[in-house]
This record gives sequence, structure tokens and C-alpha cells, in this order.
Amino acid sequence: MTQILNRNLTERQFNFTEKDFERIRKLIYDHAGISLNPAKKDMVYSRLVRRIRELGLDSFQVYLGLLEKGDAAEWELFVNSLTTNLTSFFREEHHFPILSEHINERRTRTPINIWCSASSTGEEPYSIAMTMVELYGSFQPPVKIYASDVDTNVLAKAREGIYTTDRLEKMPQHKVRRFFKKGMGENQGKVRVRKELRDMIEFVHVNLLDESWPLNGKFDAIFCRNVMIYFDKPTQYSILKKFVPLLKEDGLMFAGHSESFLHAADLFKLRRKTVYELSDQQRKAYHK
Ligand SMILES: C[S@@+](CC[C@H](N)C(=O)[O-])C[C@H]1O[C@@H](n2cnc3c(N)ncnc32)[C@H](O)[C@@H]1O
Repeated sequence: MTQILNRNLTERQFNFTEKDFERIRKLIYDHAGISLNPAKKDMVYSRLVRRIRELGLDSFQVYLGLLEKGDAAEWELFVNSLTTNLTSFFREEHHFPILSEHINERRTRTPINIWCSASSTGEEPYSIAMTMVELYGSFQPPVKIYASDVDTNVLAKAREGIYTTDRLEKMPQHKVRRFFKKGMGENQGKVRVRKELRDMIEFVHVNLLDESWPLNGKFDAIFCRNVMIYFDKPTQYSILKKFVPLLKEDGLMFAGHSESFLHAADLFKLRRKTVYELSDQQRKAYHK
């Protein structure tokens, strides 16, 4: 068995040198902040080799040359190939009652704005939308959700809101019945998120690394979960700094289970497990 696996890894159709891998690491780091560790070499080969075949190129060098010339469409596909999009409905479940309580205490404010800043295939923003519908007891709560990602493929999937039923296995049946429509015929085995939930969300392409983001206004809550782990600390800090002016004075920042913003203590302070609020210093700045 080991022998077979080793042969598959080493017998590659295209030569893939350490230098090629280093070039790719630099390109994706500079463009999207993603730090690929050396163990990802095989993953990178298998994800990009498809594109080299589709383009009918004969080497990684030619492909990388094409990217370095700045072909925008190719860049989009390159980034889409190298992101990791693992997500699920109500992932890190304990955050949703905290969000609900936070918004409930501010329900006289309208509208409520929430940003899900690495929304992947949509399970996270739809979980936020379901939480808001449950809180307000209405399919038209005064809540606007912005969901963004750098990967245009996952954004398109999120916008569609179609999932295979196995994605809902852990969700209580009453939620499934309330928030999803079952597919029939050729869509057997699939569900679609109800239109009212899709209408609550605006999907936008945002690269968190960009100097400026196409979002303005202040948010009552920002979800930035399980994306910071791909960035190094200086990159994380500069992103967190850009979140500060977009958060309301009493807004909440939600982080992923293995992420910590404690290295940015001048910007955020921990309120509850992986939930942050503006530091005292930043809050004071609101009153200047
Ligand atoms: C592991 S998923 C996490 C999804 C979701 N937030 C969750 O916790 O389930 C990470 C997402 O971050 C996105 N991402 C990676 N780099 C990004 C960047 N520079 N700007 C915006 N999104 C990025 C990826 O495309 C991917 O969809």
C-alpha cells in the first residue's frame, strides 16, 4: 500500500520543482495572505495541475509566467484553487446564542448590520440569518447580512444556497423544515435555502488583504472565523486594524476556535471564549 502511494506522489505528469513551489507560495501569500506550509506541496500540485492541463500548457514554469504577467481571469482561478473552504451550518455552535442575545439587547436599533467576512460556501451566513429569523420571529427581520470571500467559486455556491442533504444531518428537524425546501426530480437529495433567507444576505467579493474593502457603515457584529489561521501574525494584525472602524462601539467580533486576537490587545479584548469587543483604548477613541 505504502509503495503504491509513494509512486503516485512521485510520478508526476509535470515536473514540479521546489523553485516552482516557492514561486507559488510567494504569489498566494502576496495576493491573499495565505501562508502555505511546505507540507502542502502535493496538495498544491494536484490542485494546479488540472489548470495546466486545461490550458494545454506543458510546464509549471509556463503557467507561473502567465500568472506573473497578471492575467486577471487566471488569477481568480489560481486563488480559487488554493483556498481551503471547510465549513458547516452552525459551526462552533456556542457563538449563535451569543449573537442572538447581543442583537436582542439592541433590537430597537434598525437596521442591524452583520458581516460574515470569510463566508465560504454560505453555511455560516445562512446560520446567522436563521438565528436572526428565530430571534425576531419573522422572515423579514430588520437585519442586513453581508457575506464575503476571496474565492469567487464559493461565493457563487453560497449565493445559490443549494446543498446536499447530508450537510443538514446535524441540524434539528424543525430548523430543516422551516428554512429549507427539498429538491424534487433531478434535485432529489438536495435542499435549497428559502428565498427569504437568501434575500437577507448580500454576497460580495472581498479580499481581506486589500487596502480598502467595498463595505462601509458600521457593523453590530463581524464574523471572521477560521480564516486568520491561514495568515501570519503581522497580516492578521493589519486586517484586525481595518476591522476596528467598521465595528460599532459595542460591536462583537467572532473568531474561530483555534484563533486568538490577543496579540492585538490594543485593538480588541476578549469578552467570552473566542468572542471579542473593542479594546478600552479603541472605545475611548469613539468619544474623542
Ligand atoms: C476554512 S474556511 C472558513 C469558513 C467559515 N468562516 C467557517 O468558519 O466555517 C476559510 C475561508 O476563508 C477564505 N479566505 C482565504 N483567504 C482569504 C482572503 N485573503 N480574503 C477573504 N477570504 C479569504 C477562503 O476562501 C475560505 O472560504
